[in-house]
Amino acid sequence: MNHIIQLFSISLLTIALSACGGGSNKPKSSSAARSSVAPSSTAASSSVASLSVALKTLTTMPIGVAVNAADEAYNISDSTAQQRVVTHHFNQLTAGNIMKMSYLHPSENSFTYTDADALITFASDNGMSVHGHALIWHSDYQVPTWMKDYPGDKTAWLAMLETHVKTIATHYSGKVASWDVVNEAIEDGGGYRNSIFYQKTQADYIEQAFINANASDSTADLYYNDYNIEADTAKMATLETMLDGFDTRDVPIDGVGFQMHIYMDYPSITTIKASFQKIVNRNLKVKISELDIPINNPYSSAYQGGDIKTTLTTELSRAQKKRYCEVVTAYLEAVPANLRGGVTIWGVADPSSWLISFLFDNKHDDWPLIFDANYSEKPAVQGVADALNNQPCTNQ
Ligand code: XIL
Repeated sequence: MNHIIQLFSISLLTIALSACGGGSNKPKSSSAARSSVAPSSTAASSSVASLSVALKTLTTMPIGVAVNAADEAYNISDSTAQQRVVTHHFNQLTAGNIMKMSYLHPSENSFTYTDADALITFASDNGMSVHGHALIWHSDYQVPTWMKDYPGDKTAWLAMLETHVKTIATHYSGKVASWDVVNEAIEDGGGYRNSIFYQKTQADYIEQAFINANASDSTADLYYNDYNIEADTAKMATLETMLDGFDTRDVPIDGVGFQMHIYMDYPSITTIKASFQKIVNRNLKVKISELDIPINNPYSSAYQGGDIKTTLTTELSRAQKKRYCEVVTAYLEAVPANLRGGVTIWGVADPSSWLISFLFDNKHDDWPLIFDANYSEKPAVQGVADALNNQPCTNQ
């Protein structure tokens, strides 16, 4: 794919994230949220397809999944069918939304932990760890309004963010395995993102967040998390410069999360491996933090020429199986065991994927995840298993 088109695609994604308008996955206010994550009396889907060998048993690294909770659509508390596959295959959860800034810190002097605490209890009751996501993220819909309006100079902003990070990291100390401390602070094409945090503090908020998170929770692994760093070498170059500065100044960071919202045809496995290698070379952990692989690529010339896949054929689902296998294999080959933060898939059932609204604007279906609408395993589950079992990646 043309690199410029790809940058354009990510810009659109960013605009979509900033606007966060509409869509079935749009997060709602947590005020009306249920306060527990318990199996509901809703009967599981009539399909009780058998499950293959649990992915989590095939490796020692975390195998994670993002789940919805509280008052979100597709929340895990409403579906025993979803709980069944999640607890079978995964040993780590990421909250898709409910641990973001606006959910945990809705007004300056109040922190609301009820929904996230319930999710953490659900995880620990089922032998799963939690990856915290995210202490600082610019995306407009989830920076609390009071914070956007926060008065004061750079010193006041850094103090306000210190309270934010330290209060939340202290609350979850010992309860989360890791944090995305700062999410998406680097711009496509390189340079720091001109977010509200950057406007108020320049890049200082980034390293201060790591210092403050570490001061409040010295055991959790602390990650910088971003998208397209597996493909955009200029964006990666800014990240490398930032990491080198952290190293010089002894800023505590454990790893880099590669979101990996990628495509079937982009980027190449060679490119992905080379990007992982840059982080491994710094002796930092690499986590695939938000993996999804849609069948359609709206920025490809095929799609733009009208070749839109509206049915998941056997052939396509097997091609996706191969792609999932190749990505996880690339990760295992590039990242030594001691630096593997694990692999997390961004959602459970295909129709719940954020890409349906954010990437495809609800214009047609897609199937980016590894379970179908009934929580049955797609061939992609076998693709991940093949990689973890060190087997060849095939579309058979
Ligand atoms: C997405 C969620 O999946 C959606 O439900 C929400 O409406 C918007 O955010 N990068 C991230 C995630 O770090 O937090 C985003 O999650 C997807 C892109």
